[in-house]
Amino acid sequence: MGKIMVLDHPLIQHKLSIIRNQHTSSKDFREIVGEIATLVCYEATRDLPLKEVTVTTPITKAKTKVIAGKKLAFVPILRAGLGMVDGVLALLPSARVGHIGLYRDPETLKPVEYYCKLPADVGEREVILLDPMIATGGSAIDAVSLIKKQNPKSIKIMGIIAAPEGLAALSAAHPDVDIYVAAEDECLNDHGYIVPGLGDAGDRIFGTK
Ligand code: PRP
Ligand code: URA
Repeated sequence: MGKIMVLDHPLIQHKLSIIRNQHTSSKDFREIVGEIATLVCYEATRDLPLKEVTVTTPITKAKTKVIAGKKLAFVPILRAGLGMVDGVLALLPSARVGHIGLYRDPETLKPVEYYCKLPADVGEREVILLDPMIATGGSAIDAVSLIKKQNPKSIKIMGIIAAPEGLAALSAAHPDVDIYVAAEDECLNDHGYIVPGLGDAGDRIFGTK
């Protein structure tokens, strides 16, 4: 089974309270989604391999470590995953970015694919999928399946809020994928929204409602 990490750091909890608030503006919501993405990425990249280098400090030579040129690709699920891209690139500016377009049919709650463009060399890369919301888990499950067709080295998922139902479905469908989220909420409501959640992440990021 893959790991499920719920990151309860005080900075993350504070920022989550702001984006959960229905009165938070799109501008602030977008900004804070990016900040939370940076904090979750810090943990999701904890296992990046290092190599030793020697640098000369003003005092002497020191053996230190740098990231060992690992090839990463971030893949946001459109639309709401786009809100996390700048936040993760702030830490890893050389990573490549692919895109997967999925929307959830409001009646069936099943994901509908409309776009997929991954880096040409994704087979040589570790992929980190980005989507702030894991509700039924259907979108994340389909996105992982799409990426797996191109044989990446590994896949992780970074989210912000997940429902227990979605986490269970996702880890059952893809037990080889580690999941990093900022919160696990109570449940889904009858419309498939996470409770208490934050509403529709895409609409709140882009101000479309
Ligand atoms: C939201 C969210 C996830 C999906 C989660 O996207 O960003 O992709 O719902 O739901 P699930 O776990 O039940 O699949 P949405 O379908 O609203 O599309 P949008 O980002 O384009 O608005
Ligand atoms: N998608 C969202 O944006 N929010 C939810 O609560 C569920 C799915």
